[in-house]
Amino acid sequence: MLALYFHAHYGLDVEDLPFWKSLAEKQGGPLLELGCGTGRVLIPLAEAGYAAWGIDKDPEMLDFLQGNLSPNVLPAPHLLEADFSDFNLDRQFPLVIVPCNTWSTLDADTRRRALGCITRHLNSGGLLAVSVPNPQVLLDLPPNAKPEVEDEFEHPLSGDPVQVSSAWKRSKDRLTVTWHYDHLLPDGDVQRTSVEVTHELVAAERYLEEVRSAGLAIEATYGEFDGSPYTAETENFIFVAKKL
Ligand SMILES: C[S@@+](CC[C@H](N)C(=O)[O-])C[C@H]1O[C@@H](n2cnc3c(N)ncnc32)[C@H](O)[C@@H]1O
Repeated sequence: MLALYFHAHYGLDVEDLPFWKSLAEKQGGPLLELGCGTGRVLIPLAEAGYAAWGIDKDPEMLDFLQGNLSPNVLPAPHLLEADFSDFNLDRQFPLVIVPCNTWSTLDADTRRRALGCITRHLNSGGLLAVSVPNPQVLLDLPPNAKPEVEDEFEHPLSGDPVQVSSAWKRSKDRLTVTWHYDHLLPDGDVQRTSVEVTHELVAAERYLEEVRSAGLAIEATYGEFDGSPYTAETENFIFVAKKL
């Protein structure tokens, strides 16, 4: 159920897609997406003709992705159930992407191991591109917030409304967001599905230092997917790093 809700909810969010497409256009294929989830990004890239590889550790997300792929999409994407901090595909890529706030959910050791794998899987001149929520905005959030309705979408199977609300708790090092998906049934009942996502609170400069320590050079940073510069107020922090 979570894969269905994730896809319907995040599927509303398409503003980053041109950014990933422009990187694919610049670098050419094949590309590798880490944490490809339900294919929100990977499917449009594959449909645009890029040879795409996707890794995710959640089999439900990968099954959903596979079920959403048209057989007419060629070449068919390669999907792998694995932890992206410990994988070996025996090949190198001109582009590795980590969209949609996945990187900020990793602890420091997982990021270090993932960067080791990424560096091995990038060819010379290859780019790594990562987007996370603006670290400064997360650090400045109040310690907690009660659930508030943020979005609504049609349940993909029943057509009933699903309300999305979120609440959070912030400590010094982490922000835990609880997402509630409330399926409003025709008889007035509400079926709630909840998921917790924890983001590590890491300064933007520390992300960049870790990438440099892995042997990559920072190519660019942005605050928005239209290429606007990163500031303390932007919605995102996006970095692009190059294997020299
Ligand atoms: C926020 S979703 C993003 C999905 C997709 N990239 C998108 O943009 O819609 C994060 C995904 O990363 C996966 N993930 C998180 N940590 C992972 C890890 N260490 N190894 C493999 N997959 C991971 C989760 O299972 C989930 O599907």
